[in-house]
Amino acid sequence: MSRIVFNMGWDAKTAQELISGCASESGEFEQRCFPDGETYLNVLSDVADRECVLLINGVQPDQQFLSWIYMAENLKELGATSVGMLIPYLPYMRQDIRFKPGECVTSRHFAKLISASFDWLITTDPHLHRYDALSEIYSIPTRIVPAAPAIARWIKQSVDNPVIIGPDIESQQWVQDVASLVGCSYEVLLKERSGDRDVSVSLPKRADFKGFTPVLVDDIISTGRTMANAVVNLIQCDMKAPVCIGVHPLFSDDCIALLKESGAQQVVSCNTLNHPSALIQLTEDWTEALSNQ
Ligand code: R5P
Repeated sequence: MSRIVFNMGWDAKTAQELISGCASESGEFEQRCFPDGETYLNVLSDVADRECVLLINGVQPDQQFLSWIYMAENLKELGATSVGMLIPYLPYMRQDIRFKPGECVTSRHFAKLISASFDWLITTDPHLHRYDALSEIYSIPTRIVPAAPAIARWIKQSVDNPVIIGPDIESQQWVQDVASLVGCSYEVLLKERSGDRDVSVSLPKRADFKGFTPVLVDDIISTGRTMANAVVNLIQCDMKAPVCIGVHPLFSDDCIALLKESGAQQVVSCNTLNHPSALIQLTEDWTEALSNQ
């Protein structure tokens, strides 16, 4: 029997494209809050002896986390043979070390909790900085669908004479892949962060990038401080107004206004989260990954 897919937060059109693309059935369920704020969940589809998949939108995880766990546990009690999650933006990956003595390494605990209730996970470009692989913290099978091919396709179609710039050392992994697929040069800048909203980024070293269109690529755009600083520095070096690409458009606070003020030519993202800037579509890539799962 075909897989049954429950949409817990993707936009309806993208979810439907994926569900039809991998010939799955759309799962029906009811979710609401009781007056005291507790969650009510009711699975309406028959899931006995079926493989189940949850399509999860990873933004604001604290507000949703319990409903993901309740859903997975409920599906298993109702007879599902397995429950996996397709979560294009995997949250809680950035606190991967204890910077100060008492800090909680939330990435590890989040991974432990997810691994206890789900059988597998598919995501896109998780923030692997001090971890080399998700298997260091997740004990379930995980698969990464890279955004680089779709980003490279978009750059080839939309940007003349691009040079790819990474705003910090962690971005090297994405920037290098994108530049190699586009067939252009890249450079990685150095970032110093002294607070959540306090970031400085170094100037590019190569003067011969003048005349090229800088395309800044990073995995996450959250407050936009990293990108905005990089944009200002590139413009100060007489480079053209940069195009900014973020895989995961978290866009917290005044991010959009800040990026506009910085002088960015365009801000584009992937559809790992719902946002009007998501011109780079990965739905076919996720469909293929799910079909092969
Ligand atoms: C962290 O190293 C990530 O790769 C991003 O550079 C960072 O999360 C961006 O955050 P913000 O937009 O708040 O500067």
